[in-house]
Amino acid sequence: MQAVVELLRAEVAYYNWVGIYLVDDGKLVLAAWDGPEATEHTTIDIGQGVCGLAARNKETVIVDDVRAKDEYLACFPQTRSEIVVPLMRGEECIGEIDIDSDSPSAFTESDRELLEVVARLLVNAYFPS
Ligand code: SME
Repeated sequence: MQAVVELLRAEVAYYNWVGIYLVDDGKLVLAAWDGPEATEHTTIDIGQGVCGLAARNKETVIVDDVRAKDEYLACFPQTRSEIVVPLMRGEECIGEIDIDSDSPSAFTESDRELLEVVARLLVNAYFPS
C-alpha cells in the first residue's frame, strides 16, 4: 500500500497528498500515505469529514472546492480539492483512497475511473473474498 500511494503521487502532478485509510473497529485508520507532511487526522469516524461521508455512502466523493464543503475536515491549508474512493469488498467498505490537491477542481471523471480501478486491484490483492 505504501508503494501504491507513492506511485500515484509520483505519476500525477496534482495528486499532492495521497493516503489509504482502512476500516478498523468501525473507524477509518490511516494505513499508508505520501505527501509533503503528515496529517493529524490519522483516525476518522465513519460519517465524519469527506472521508467518513464516502465510507458511509460507499460512493466516490469529489469535492471541487473544499472551502465550500461543510463536511470537510481540514488537514493542509493549501488543499483546494479532494477525491475519496471507497475500497469495496463486496457490499462492505473496508477502507478508502484519499487524495488532496492544491489545485481547485483538480479531479475529473478520469481520476474517478483510474482510482476506482486501483481500489479494486488493491482489494483483490490484499483482501480477497
Ligand atoms: N480532508 C479529509 C480528512 C483527511 S485529510 O485530507 C488527509 C476529510 O474531510 O475527511
